[in-house]
Amino acid sequence: MKSKDFGETFYWGAAISAAQTESAALANGKGISIWDEFCEAQKGFFKSKFRIKSKHHLNYSSDFYVHYKTDIDLLKSMGFKHFRFSIAWSRILPEGETINQQGIAFYQEVIQYCIDCEIEPWVTLYHWDLPAALEKKGGWTNRAILDWFALYADVCVRHFSKVKHWMVLNEPSVFVGAGYFFGIHAPGKKGFYNFFKAMHHANLCIGYIYRIIKNINPDLHVGSTFSFTYVESIDAQPKNLKAAKTANLLINRLFFEPIIGLGYPKEDLKILYQIEKHIQAGDVELMKTNLDFIGVQTYTREMFKHNALNPFLKIKQVPAQHRTNELTAMNWEIFPPSIYHVLKMIDNYQTGIPMVITENGIALMDEVENGVVRDAQRIEYFKNHLKQVKRAKSEGMDIRGYFAWSLMDNFEWAEGYHPRFGLVHIDFETKERTLKNSGHWFRSFLKTDESQD
Ligand code: BGC
Repeated sequence: MKSKDFGETFYWGAAISAAQTESAALANGKGISIWDEFCEAQKGFFKSKFRIKSKHHLNYSSDFYVHYKTDIDLLKSMGFKHFRFSIAWSRILPEGETINQQGIAFYQEVIQYCIDCEIEPWVTLYHWDLPAALEKKGGWTNRAILDWFALYADVCVRHFSKVKHWMVLNEPSVFVGAGYFFGIHAPGKKGFYNFFKAMHHANLCIGYIYRIIKNINPDLHVGSTFSFTYVESIDAQPKNLKAAKTANLLINRLFFEPIIGLGYPKEDLKILYQIEKHIQAGDVELMKTNLDFIGVQTYTREMFKHNALNPFLKIKQVPAQHRTNELTAMNWEIFPPSIYHVLKMIDNYQTGIPMVITENGIALMDEVENGVVRDAQRIEYFKNHLKQVKRAKSEGMDIRGYFAWSLMDNFEWAEGYHPRFGLVHIDFETKERTLKNSGHWFRSFLKTDESQD
């Protein structure tokens, strides 16, 4: 397999997000985000009570805020031409209202440095770090989020006019599910009521903000990213097949179908009728968005079975560690065909919208030994997943790019710093950067003509 097999115009990139890499949580006028607050509020001595494993805190991550030039140089050295990162909303509008010029200046510098290095910036507006001041007003459960987000997007698009590629949201199903239903991510809210409201507002935001950006400049390339997972039943028993269908609806359909104009899949899951009380006239049309690209983020396969004890959904996930030894440091199954099945599932909707894989990668417990990180398993992961992308492309699916997650090790949300996703190793004490063997592999893959099978 050669990188050229994917076509001359294929976008090759690596991705990060602000909250996971920047540190500098309060530097130069930045406001507090819900993730700053979530990390701060870890009280107690009992491990089971920690919100984030080992009580890790996002403020001691990779210091991208200081080392961004080194990181962009490393990205370039691997042969990538595209860089996906996010903007911390609370650096731009600390309380959600007034502009912080120092925050604007920081991202203008990052963007300019990308351009000087001939790297195309791909910017995600929202990668989960809402200003805490807006969460106090209800955050994603308050419909006013549309206005707050409109102001933020307007400020960003006008000040960062050199950016051509924009993404509105990063994986709404994950930040709404984990943050407003299970309460395991910031802001730690729970229950169906919060979930349905936050979900509906997130879905509305995609359509609303897409239109705002296009109004400012119709030539901008605007998408949004979605988390997709290949879902299967544990076996062929009808009740387990039904459970897998429900899981698939929740994981893959619920946050995607309204955007492509199919509305909420209420017919297939009656509890979704509860969303109706949050839907206003015109909402269905507003959610329907002819995005310029669908950001596909996918990592693994999940399996489900029937569970009579689960009152509403009747499903139970069968954890990967109970069924395979092919596991990542997140205990996610390594199953390369999953990416092909996900691409095919999206392709089957026949939306006519191109796909860009905006995240795919593997967490390992990498260590530096004599200046080298031997992450052979990561090289295998990328090779095998890219072969599946190539397979999908050869069947005619419209896939325009691939971004590895992640450029560097970072703060893995509730999992803290132990699972490492980077092509670049970060020593979180000294902030030293070491290109892993997988980074060297990408360099050969992207910069030479030799096959990298
Ligand atoms: C998120 C990233 C995260 C990655 C691995 C995606 O859900 O966008 O922020 O680090 O998956 O868990």
